[in-house]
Amino acid sequence: MKILVIGAGNMGLTYAEGMSKSKLLKRRNIMVLDTSEEKLEALKKEAKFDTFKELADCVPQADIIFIAVKPYHAEGLMMKMEPLVNKGQIVISIMAGVTIKTIKNLTGLNKVVRAMPNLPAQIGKGLTSFVASEEVSRIELLTIESLLDTTGRSILVSDENFIDASTGISGSGPAYVFYFMQSMMEAALKMGFSKNVSKVLVSQTFTGAIELFNQNDLSPNSWMDKVASKGGTTRAALDSMDNNKVGELIKEAAFAAFERAIELGKEKSYV
Ligand SMILES: NC(=O)c1ccc[n+]([C@@H]2O[C@H](COP(=O)([O-])OP(=O)(O)OC[C@H]3O[C@@H](n4cnc5c(N)ncnc54)[C@H](OP(=O)(O)O)[C@@H]3O)[C@@H](O)[C@H]2O)c1
Repeated sequence: MKILVIGAGNMGLTYAEGMSKSKLLKRRNIMVLDTSEEKLEALKKEAKFDTFKELADCVPQADIIFIAVKPYHAEGLMMKMEPLVNKGQIVISIMAGVTIKTIKNLTGLNKVVRAMPNLPAQIGKGLTSFVASEEVSRIELLTIESLLDTTGRSILVSDENFIDASTGISGSGPAYVFYFMQSMMEAALKMGFSKNVSKVLVSQTFTGAIELFNQNDLSPNSWMDKVASKGGTTRAALDSMDNNKVGELIKEAAFAAFERAIELGKEKSYV
């Protein structure tokens, strides 16, 4: 199996590296194409992958074409790919907002997978939700799942609406966690802790809480009940959050991202 990764940016290289480390593919079967001479030179020096500048030199050889360019480059790229592809090829796109219908229309390919990764993919802890067109077979789906899992975990969703929905939860989600962390660090600084100590207090609290959550079947609500005793300090904080409707505001924020993902999809509908 040969894979072509188009776009040697943050995400494209994350997947190329993930796939090459996973032993699913030999390095020489991973091709990377970018328009930037500088990026190609750097990659050539590392000698990790076969690098390409011209689509004609690599698109016809690929079994799977992984597109990781910014959405505003999608149209131009896919129109150039169209005369070079063959019907058996599978395209996986991680471009936010670019729909399966658009990819099919512009590339002429029917086997299309749309995936939504998140930032922790860069350290092998990502979450990629994905959906496939009906032309992708079950066996091909298993291969794709294994490829996406090389950067963390993947979840197959039943329709494209869930890709936009997962953008609002896992795609944009790391930023919500950082938002919470930032506020807690600012509170720690205000209480007189140094920047370094504030960072440790907050990061270890997040790590510990998440590990507890992952090692157990308890819901977040049950964990809150375990730490918050009546009249105690944690209850004071949770009551303050409830009174300020923090929970409602977080849900509203996730829906704002979901709705924006839908809007972007409409803006980028080239058909
Ligand atoms: N970063 C995330 O956390 C995240 C999460 C979910 C989805 N995504 C999606 O992932 C995609 C890539 O994001 P990124 O952050 O990795 O972007 P990036 O770092 O800008 O990488 C894109 C790369 O593609 C190159 N490129 C542009 N046009 C090209 C073309 N026609 N042919 C070949 N290469 C081309 C760019 O070169 P130049 O720099 O010279 O333009 C750049 O090297 C985006 O569509 C984004 O929506 C990203």
